[in-house]
Amino acid sequence: MSSPISPILDPFGRPITYLRVSVTDRCDFRCVYCMAEDMTFLPKAELMTLEETETLCRRFMAVGTRNIRLTGGEPLVRRNIISLIRNLGAEVKKGNLDELTITTNGSQLYKMADMLYDAGVRRLNVSVDTLDPDKFREITRWGDLAQVLNGIKAAQAAGLKIKLNTVALKGTNEDELADMLAWCGDHGIDMTIIEVMPMGDIGGEDRLDQYLPLSMVRAQLSRRFTLQEIPYRTGGPARYVRIAETGQKLGFITPLTHNFCESCNRVRLTCTGMLYMCLGQDDSANLRDAMREGGTEALDAAIAEAIGRKPKGHDFIIDRDNNAPAVSRHMSVTGG
Ligand code: 5AD
Ligand code: SF4
Repeated sequence: MSSPISPILDPFGRPITYLRVSVTDRCDFRCVYCMAEDMTFLPKAELMTLEETETLCRRFMAVGTRNIRLTGGEPLVRRNIISLIRNLGAEVKKGNLDELTITTNGSQLYKMADMLYDAGVRRLNVSVDTLDPDKFREITRWGDLAQVLNGIKAAQAAGLKIKLNTVALKGTNEDELADMLAWCGDHGIDMTIIEVMPMGDIGGEDRLDQYLPLSMVRAQLSRRFTLQEIPYRTGGPARYVRIAETGQKLGFITPLTHNFCESCNRVRLTCTGMLYMCLGQDDSANLRDAMREGGTEALDAAIAEAIGRKPKGHDFIIDRDNNAPAVSRHMSVTGG
C-alpha cells in the first residue's frame, strides 16, 4: 500500500517508515542473554500511559510511519495493552498503517491469540530459542515451553502468521538449530536466527561464552538444507534465504559480522518516551517531555529534530578486550 504522506527522511536520505515501540521493560521470562535474574525494572510511574504512547504513534504516522511493531520486555504482559492494539489495529483496517505486528515471547498467546487477530494483527514474531523443555527453562529461567507452543498453535488457529526468532547460543542450542528449522518447515513457520548482541549488563554471564557466529550456523544448516538466496528485504537487519526442502524463509541477523545499516528505515521508542535513532548507539530524544510540556507542535518538532540526527550506523563489537556491553541499556528497553 502506498501512503499519501511522503515519509520523513533522515540525514542519509533513508525514509523512516517503521516505528518499533517498547510498551514495557518488564517480562515474565529472564532469558540469560537478555536479563540478569534480579533485574530492576522501571518504577511504573515513569512509564508513559498507553494513551500517550498512542499519541506518539499517531504523530509518527503523520510523518510517514507505515509499520508499527510492539515489543518489550514482553508487550502482552502490559496491563490493558489490548486497548492500544485495538486502536492501532483500527488504523490498519482504515489503511492508515500497512501493518501492526508484535514481538512476543508467546507466553500469553494461548489466551490472547483471537483478540489479537480481531484487533487487526496478522503477523507475530515469537521468540523461541529451543524446543527442548529443560533447555527452555534453562535459557528463559522462568518460561514454560508447553505454554508457548500452545500459544503458537492458538495463534495459527486464529489465522496469525508466525515467525520464530531464535538467538544462536554457543553450546546451548547450536546443535538443535537444524531440527528447529525442520520443525518450522513442518508447521509453516518462517525462522530468523539472531546473533547474540552486547546489550545491557546480564549479571554473571559472559557474552563471549554465548557468542556463536552465524557464518558457522549457516555452514552447519547447509549440510542438511538447501539455502537459496532470495532478494526479500524488510528494511531491517535480516538477510533471508529460502529453504528449498520446506519452502519457508530463513533470516539471519548478524549485527556483529555484517553491516545492515545502509537500508535502515526504523527508529525505536521506549516505554518512557525516549526515541532511539539507532539500536547500537546511545543517542536519544525525550519525546515524552516534549509532548507533556509543549503539546503536539513541540512533539512534532522534537520528532523531526531527532530523525535529523539519526546516525549512519552502529559499531557493535564483542572480543576479548571488549566484553562490556556496547550500549548500556538492555534489549528489553528498546525492544530489539
Ligand atoms: N542479543 C540478541 N538478541 C537478543 N534478544 C534479546 N536480547 C538479545 C541480545 N542481547 C532477542 C530476543 C527476541 C528479540 C526481540 O531480541 O530473544 O527474540
Ligand atoms: Fe523476556 Fe524477551 Fe528478554 Fe527473554 S529475551 S527475558 S522473553 S524480553
